[in-house]
Amino acid sequence: MRSADTQGWCTAGELLRRETRSRGIQMIEITDLHKRFNTGTPNEVYALRGINLTIKEGDFVTIIGTNGSGKSTLLNAIAGTFLPDTGRIRIAGEDVTNRTDFQRAKHIARVFQNPFMGTAPGMTIAENLHMAYLRGRKVYPAIRLDAARRQEYGKEVEQLEMQLEDRLDNVIGALSGGQRQALTLLMAVLNRPKVLLLDEHTAALDPKSAAQVIKLTRRFVEKGNLTTFMVTHSMQQALDLGCRTIMMHRGGIIDDLTLDEKRRMTVNDLLAKFAELRQAERLTDEMLVALRRDYL
Ligand SMILES: Nc1ncnc2c1ncn2[C@@H]1O[C@H](COP(=O)(O)OP(=O)(O)O)[C@@H](O)[C@H]1O
Ligand SMILES: [Mg+2]
Repeated sequence: MRSADTQGWCTAGELLRRETRSRGIQMIEITDLHKRFNTGTPNEVYALRGINLTIKEGDFVTIIGTNGSGKSTLLNAIAGTFLPDTGRIRIAGEDVTNRTDFQRAKHIARVFQNPFMGTAPGMTIAENLHMAYLRGRKVYPAIRLDAARRQEYGKEVEQLEMQLEDRLDNVIGALSGGQRQALTLLMAVLNRPKVLLLDEHTAALDPKSAAQVIKLTRRFVEKGNLTTFMVTHSMQQALDLGCRTIMMHRGGIIDDLTLDEKRRMTVNDLLAKFAELRQAERLTDEMLVALRRDYL
């Protein structure tokens, strides 16, 4: 049996506590979502083919799938990067289907694969955190980066365990990829977003930094009871983290594992599932080889 630490944070007690806290509210509701790119051209891609998905408040969902199966597109659709062709998206009970990404940004935070994307390199750690703090707040009266705020940010940075607490005035551009990604994650969760979207956010990091960012992810998600949707390139990570794992292939959801199923499953079982798909002629030999290469 795996230790509590590697089972994600959904221990039975935690689950019960979350159930009570969240009162079963649906945070994300996606109905029959379709998206084609370059419609009507030779480059047409049918990226999302009728996605139906409901995610409860506080759920931590991991997503795996073949390359190009639509994982990032699904996250983009939730964030409002583009409008879907058909279908509806509701967040916290509100229909946001026709809202722009800017209008949704107050409730949705994202971390991408590239650690150089989420922060402003020419600004200091304190300034970046202050910018994240001000995001979505009223402009007036102005909240200044005073001594009290700096002290707050110092405490926040300390919990990253990345030796950054004495470097609040260093520009972000001078930091390592791992340190930047840890800060990006901290900035994403600072205002407790309704939805946290993580798109392979540890894939570009060295193993030690990746492990630390995963540890922080788990901690922040638990502390904030954040509804989290995390794409991962690692099957082990997908099984270890969160309460539910979704598998995508060719623009559709082909499997949806509960916490119990995840606990019983090994990486080899997951690979066998992909092999079963192949037998059903939904996955080619090349795709299976690519999966082993990408995920193991
Ligand atoms: N903005 C876009 N324009 C054109 N094609 C896109 C765009 N975004 C994604 N695609 C295509 O949609 C498919 C799904 O892509 P994506 O969601 O990025 O896959 P995944 O994240 O699962 O690897 C791919 O074929 C990809 O090339
Ligand atoms: Mg992707």
